[in-house]
Amino acid sequence: MSLIEVEHLRKEYPNATPLKDFNATVEAGEVISIIGPSGTGKSTFIRCLNRLETPTSGTILVDGVDMCDPATDLPKMRQKMGMVFQNYALFNHKLVVENLMMAPMDKLGLSKQEAYDRALGLLETVGLRDKALNWPQELSGGQRQRVAIARGLAMDPKILLFDEPTSALDPQMVSEVLSVITGLAERGLTMLVVTHEMRFARDASSRVFYMDRGELWEAGPPEQIFEHPLRQETHDFVFRVRNWEWEMHSITPDIPALQASLDAYCQRQFMGRHAANSCKLVVEEAVLNLLRGIARKVGVADPNVKVSIAAGEGGVDMELLVDYRGPLLEVPNLFDMVDDDLSLSIVRGVCKKVELLEPGLVRFMI
Ligand SMILES: Nc1ncnc2c1ncn2[C@@H]1O[C@H](COP(=O)(O)OP(=O)(O)O)[C@@H](O)[C@H]1O
Ligand SMILES: [Mg+2]
Repeated sequence: MSLIEVEHLRKEYPNATPLKDFNATVEAGEVISIIGPSGTGKSTFIRCLNRLETPTSGTILVDGVDMCDPATDLPKMRQKMGMVFQNYALFNHKLVVENLMMAPMDKLGLSKQEAYDRALGLLETVGLRDKALNWPQELSGGQRQRVAIARGLAMDPKILLFDEPTSALDPQMVSEVLSVITGLAERGLTMLVVTHEMRFARDASSRVFYMDRGELWEAGPPEQIFEHPLRQETHDFVFRVRNWEWEMHSITPDIPALQASLDAYCQRQFMGRHAANSCKLVVEEAVLNLLRGIARKVGVADPNVKVSIAAGEGGVDMELLVDYRGPLLEVPNLFDMVDDDLSLSIVRGVCKKVELLEPGLVRFMI
């Protein structure tokens, strides 16, 4: 028998049916990444699993126990199944260590000393032992989420559920949280992780669930989902998340927002440091310096430049397109004119190939 068995799970609300007919099994020790467009029932599925939501119909067996049977001891089952939310949900009026002591004292009857010792061990696991006596607000977002993970472990669960554990974090904090989760996988914990971090899904999970419109459309090892998906919907979704787009409609664009979005994209992708830096460099030199400079010089308020990046299989061969077929196309022979521009020669140096596909459309191969 599998650790988790879900059959014909359905959840209806008056105006929405986030789960239509969900079927899946999960074996002990598996790490499942759940990916898919937003609004397709991923959170609802996770919340039905530990019965934060009551399914409309269908069955959920966890460790052989029917989660929908009114006789089932749900608090006991939830001890087997920790949950980590997007927004940490720590108690801010309790010290970090106290956040981890409460449930074991209440529910397992541990003494204060026992709970304290155990909490320190858990903090060690997530690399935050030295923050035990801090207040949660004194920690960074990434650190708070690591405390939340430690708290999820406090009842010694067999299963840990995560609902977008990194989506509220700044890009630079995402990897510290993901590496803690990856470390837990190595300890044999069974985990289901709703995530939009494709790199994590690819590198850290044993199987990936692709959810769409309330159903599990495709489940398989990461190579299948990311390289050889069986269904068109999976293919299209993976393609979409592999692509990044940005439009410059002002000569004073929001550069920090642009950088954050590009950073997040590079991180989500299976991109090495070299490719990521090259993408950033092309955007910076070719778009922000060169095209923006020209727009400013010729007095164009909305340069209408579109930048898109498409990642090839496995993150090699990034294709970065810069489309300035708007007002800047009027600037005669922009690419010839600036042929010896320093920005462009730097860009040429880091790219495998730079081509003018048509007037106003340049392709940089990285
Ligand atoms: N408590 C609720 N009441 C009504 N509709 C809900 C509720 N929870 C979720 N939904 C709806 O169900 C759909 C799927 O939601 P959700 O499971 O959160 O998707 P995902 O996590 O994949 O983004 C959404 O359209 C959402 O509006
Ligand atoms: Mg969700």
